[in-house]
Amino acid sequence: MTPSPAHPTPLEHAARRGAAPSVTPAALQQAVDWAIVSRRSIRAFLPTPVPRETVLAILDVARHAASGMNTQPWRVHVLTGAAKARLSEAIAAVDDDADASAALTEPYHYYPLQWVSPFVDRRRKVGWDLYGLLGIAKGDKAAMHAQHGRNYRFFDAPVGLIFTVPRVMQAGSLMDYGMFLQSVMVAARARGLDTCPQVAFTKFHPVIGAALDIPDTEMVVCGMSLGHADPDRIENTLVTERESAESFTTFHA
Ligand SMILES: Cc1cc2nc3c(=O)[nH]c(=O)nc-3n(C[C@H](O)[C@H](O)[C@H](O)COP(=O)(O)O)c2cc1C
Repeated sequence: MTPSPAHPTPLEHAARRGAAPSVTPAALQQAVDWAIVSRRSIRAFLPTPVPRETVLAILDVARHAASGMNTQPWRVHVLTGAAKARLSEAIAAVDDDADASAALTEPYHYYPLQWVSPFVDRRRKVGWDLYGLLGIAKGDKAAMHAQHGRNYRFFDAPVGLIFTVPRVMQAGSLMDYGMFLQSVMVAARARGLDTCPQVAFTKFHPVIGAALDIPDTEMVVCGMSLGHADPDRIENTLVTERESAESFTTFHA
């Protein structure tokens, strides 16, 4: 391929974008590991805006995620300002109406149809840890609903992302999507930004489709909040546990 400014070769592109050749291997490892390990789900953001160029730069990194047969099934809607507020209000109106909310169906099964241990235990722990920090007592349904409803305001983040995939795609594309989403979150960390991936949006796909003019051939995969974490909010002190690598790994030689 003949290199040109408009059409760089992949290597040229990589060299242009990355500082990798000029940093020591140890510094590079530290930086990459830090961006991955320091990612946490943030559920309260400052109003500090994130420039459009930064959002685009993050997506420009994430588009390098691997995908089966290079299908690149991701489509991203970036919401800020009035457009974000309109979507939040439209979803909240349905979420606050118990009958309307109950009538919605998930476009795909994110969670198991039948919860079993240890997954159900981990699910419960993160839920109660979060509610515990916020002082929400077990059984306080109104407080739980209000906290869950913060999802739809993107936890006050200045940027809300809605991710869709063509319905014709299959389970493998959701796997590809996971890589893309993680890349978005890690690229955000590299820029000092935080995120919260949000499957809570998924069941509102008819509301989102209408608000964002998304064709019926597309399915909402999830949403994501993006912005600067509010360091003074108690919910942002939540640190979740992980099993050790040894516990889920078997070496065969
Ligand atoms: C695809 C995906 C969807 C998620 N959806 C939500 C959500 O709707 N609301 C929420 O508060 N957290 C959501 N989470 C965050 C998880 O609860 C969180 O990743 C998990 O508890 C581990 O914590 P950490 O992200 O802080 O490491 C989601 C995470 C993933 C990967």
